[in-house]
Amino acid sequence: MKRFVVALPSVLGRNASKSKLLKNEKCVRTLQVGRTLSDSFTDHSTTPFPEFDTFATHDELYQFSLNSPDFFWGTLARSRINWYRDFGRVKDCDLTRGHIRWFLDGELNVSVNCVDRHAEKNPDSIALIWEKDEPGTQEYVTYRELLQLVCRMSNVLESHGVKRGDRVAIYLPQSPVAVAAMLACARIGAIHNVVFAGFSSEALAGRIVDAQAETVITADQGVRGGKIIELKQVVDDALKSCTCVKRVFVYQRTGNDVPMGKLDINLDKELASQPDTHTPAVMDSEDYLFMLYTSGSTGKPKGIAHTQAGYLLYAGLTMKHVFDYKPNELFGCVADIGWITGHTYVVYGPLFNGAATLLFESTPVYPNPGRYWETIERLKLNHLYLAPTALRMLLKSGDSWVTKYDRSSLRKLGCVGEPLNREAWEWFYEVIGEERCDICDTWWQTETGGIAITPRPSAPGAEIRPAMPMRPFFGIDPVLMDPQMGTELTGGDVKGALCIKRPWPGMARSIYGDHQRFIDTYYKTYHGVYFTGDGAYRTKDGYYQITGRMDDVLNVSGHRLGTAEIEDVIDDLEETAESAVVGFPHDIKGWGIYAFVVLKDDVKTSEEEMKTQLKAMVKKRISAFAQPDIIMFTPGLPKTRSGKIMRRILRKIAANQPDELGDVSTLFDPSIVDALVEKHKQITGKS
Ligand code: WTA
Repeated sequence: MKRFVVALPSVLGRNASKSKLLKNEKCVRTLQVGRTLSDSFTDHSTTPFPEFDTFATHDELYQFSLNSPDFFWGTLARSRINWYRDFGRVKDCDLTRGHIRWFLDGELNVSVNCVDRHAEKNPDSIALIWEKDEPGTQEYVTYRELLQLVCRMSNVLESHGVKRGDRVAIYLPQSPVAVAAMLACARIGAIHNVVFAGFSSEALAGRIVDAQAETVITADQGVRGGKIIELKQVVDDALKSCTCVKRVFVYQRTGNDVPMGKLDINLDKELASQPDTHTPAVMDSEDYLFMLYTSGSTGKPKGIAHTQAGYLLYAGLTMKHVFDYKPNELFGCVADIGWITGHTYVVYGPLFNGAATLLFESTPVYPNPGRYWETIERLKLNHLYLAPTALRMLLKSGDSWVTKYDRSSLRKLGCVGEPLNREAWEWFYEVIGEERCDICDTWWQTETGGIAITPRPSAPGAEIRPAMPMRPFFGIDPVLMDPQMGTELTGGDVKGALCIKRPWPGMARSIYGDHQRFIDTYYKTYHGVYFTGDGAYRTKDGYYQITGRMDDVLNVSGHRLGTAEIEDVIDDLEETAESAVVGFPHDIKGWGIYAFVVLKDDVKTSEEEMKTQLKAMVKKRISAFAQPDIIMFTPGLPKTRSGKIMRRILRKIAANQPDELGDVSTLFDPSIVDALVEKHKQITGKS
């Protein structure tokens, strides 16, 4: 029999009886954020920050945040963060060498700011709402309970020799234990490296080895969409190629029997035997807090490194002000903790503000396409933050799945990860939000740490336009650069490479173990400004709309994937001579994956068999979401005389735009193009 009850109900939360939920909802908190701030911000009627009430308008304050960044950020850091030692200089940054330091010599502990201070003031208020896979089985964890769990977890880690500065790989399902694992790392000064629990064993191994993690925290199994996921098995497979790992903590999510080996430690037993208090480490503002791998335009994912105080402040401020979070509201970001959205808007942002945050373990369509809306009715969520791909999928299922549930608790809606097309925006606004809720299309990246461009906060009564993130957050100075000339484009109605000119506290500090790659990737293309990799359009009135990636990175269902990563896997297959992977517009996923593959001459295997093998290989090496949607076997690829693959042509073919191929005369063999167009028609049935 599957066991869904966690081993330590008193520590890990409890099943929600209606009466307990109501009791907690009634527990009115007067949350005081930080030491000196009274939580008086209620709406956008003046400026968002009580610290800066002297500014009459939003625009004045925004300009001030750009012109006097030290005063602006310094004031907020002092009033919102609890410090052990005040910082000296607010910042020391030189973007040309990727040198970024904020709140120098300040000392703090992130877990204390996210848990202890709220547990002290409002121990019974809800910290986590664990929306487990099976509807109606939610569990609540109060701040007191979260603190106890984080302390136990910290004691477990330390008792097994995990030290400050160590990297800890976390491969866990969305659960209170996962949040506690992240916070416990923060508490003892270890650097967490969360790997999305959908990545394959090889992808996990690569991330463990690159980070040289000695410790892994995982679960026996995961449960998603009614299916069991063999997490421990994936870790066991990964460890065959990771000699650095010394211990694996195994949390019992299902309690089913899984083989336990020499390195494995039963986490539930350990937690039960440890005290529920712990003395936090005193961390420097610029010590690493976590690293998170993300895809770039080369085959090897990058370990984006974030530090303590700057990231925390930026996560907290954006969460509170972009979504206008008010005390006692229930915040619902449905992202997985394996991505940056989960780090910033499931864990650090909400907990910094003493909010109740949702941990959504399931899928948008389990057991049916009404799951999100039924959850909102049952839990009475006030905020919903999700990915456009989920919206587009649900839109296709029809309005009745939405309208049969009561969504009157919702106040603010947000989305992130890819452009939100107009149709989906309108459905979000009109059907989901009943034309009552602001929609915040939020643009940001793993590298920015938190939301950088978004309609709110903004001046009182300021409009929100469909399908664009519009306005920069405080302190963010977006610029558009001319890709040919490398110079800044001024004025409105222009398109260019989206860059950010000035430093802000939440920005990434490095690529773990490869600072030169950090400089080369982000600060060389346009000297000394941060290059996002995205293109953008600025309207006549100065609003930003994202036009998509300018490099070989695809956004597939909100997941970032490098085309080179997939090519590397395909090319490793013995039968392949070479390959090129491009994206094509996809109704639901945003981008689909199209692989053009050249097989070696003597390959006898049928194309169908090769396709199956290829997909299985990509699934094994990266993840199911990286599998190509379309595979074309072709005798050759369009190349220039110097041997460079003309991806532009492949993109046009994949996008069904054979009439827009442009000049192909510079190709070594222009006739290959007709062959590719013809074969594309055969495969897809499209002309
Ligand atoms: C894309 C996710 C259009 C963009 C937080 C960016 C978006 C990449 C938006 C980062 C948006 C994110 N509109 N595109 N509102 N938000 N993107 O690192 O291409 O997983 O560079 O971070 O997602 O993806 P990442």
